[in-house]
Amino acid sequence: MNVLVTGGAGYIGSHAVKRLHGDGHRVVVIDNLVRGHRAAVPDGVTFVELDLRQTEAVTDVLREHGVECVMHFAALAYVGESVEQPLRYYDNNVGGSMSLLRAIDAAGVKRMVFSSTCATYGEPAPEHMPMNESLPQQPINPYGWSKLMTERALIDYAVATPDFAFVAHRYFNVAGSAADGSIGEDHRPETHLIPILLQAALGQREHVTVFGDDYPTPDGTCIRDYIHVEDLIDAHVVAMDALNDTGTTGGDSGGGGRFFNLGIGRGYSVREVIDAAKRVTGVDFAVKDGARRAGDPPQLFADPSKIKRELGWSATYTDIESMIETAWKWFQAHPKGYVDDA
Ligand code: UFG
Repeated sequence: MNVLVTGGAGYIGSHAVKRLHGDGHRVVVIDNLVRGHRAAVPDGVTFVELDLRQTEAVTDVLREHGVECVMHFAALAYVGESVEQPLRYYDNNVGGSMSLLRAIDAAGVKRMVFSSTCATYGEPAPEHMPMNESLPQQPINPYGWSKLMTERALIDYAVATPDFAFVAHRYFNVAGSAADGSIGEDHRPETHLIPILLQAALGQREHVTVFGDDYPTPDGTCIRDYIHVEDLIDAHVVAMDALNDTGTTGGDSGGGGRFFNLGIGRGYSVREVIDAAKRVTGVDFAVKDGARRAGDPPQLFADPSKIKRELGWSATYTDIESMIETAWKWFQAHPKGYVDDA
């Protein structure tokens, strides 16, 4: 199949490119390289440096490569930054997605897999754990809203376009990297827990700060559902195949849209992740207790039973140590990340 991967030079998108390319699909990447790394895209994959808001150029790429399915990862994805720069987030994430949809419409592409987020649910009450797809969606930051607005536009477009079908995956905390160590996680700035722990293990940080130890959780730190990036991408491939098999049938939303929470179905606390990272690396790096980070819900973990029931997908990495091991392999081999930006 001819597949366009938007954001294919980013952390998650590059893992999609690797998998699709390895499976024999013809992959074309569009990335504006604002956050992505050119070196994350392998040789043999067509790379187009382009911003999604360039609708005509995107349409040309779709036509030129006969794209049959779009995997849409490209987005800005820092919650804190989205609070400080909301217009940038709406412009990039919503504006970019609307432009992409206009290009998809013009070129007649019929399938899309969209990267959404558990941040569209906001802060569900503890009794709503594990979180299923029918929880109310009440984002608490512009990042979550930008993804929810795009979900809404997709639903409406699919209703109006009966032969267009999509799957929106709502990610929990994506972790780890390709088991072969070829690509990895390189965010600048880095804000995610596991890469920060590994940077501390490498001696690149003097200490790690725990953002709050007085949450209403067993050890007082926040609980998150960590899903390995290769499992996450497997769920995208499964979704793409389901779109091929079923076309527009089976939608959740009155049109050809389906929504899935992607997690492993259990949570790990910040302290549990820190202890696991110390075991994996063998380094007893310094840890300090700090204040809560604004906007962090005490716990978020998925009920992944819908995707298992409907698409037969479930995670293969189910313990945090094995996920961290893959990330550690990349960090040890690439202590400065991608060299094109070093
Ligand atoms: N944390 C620390 N210290 C750090 C970094 C993180 O204690 O130095 C804690 C956070 O407070 C949080 C947990 O580790 O409790 C995980 O934090 P991350 O920043 O790794 O991940 P988030 O859960 O904040 O964010 C993830 C995705 C977002 C998405 C969000 C949905 O990265 O894109 O889940 O809530 F929006």
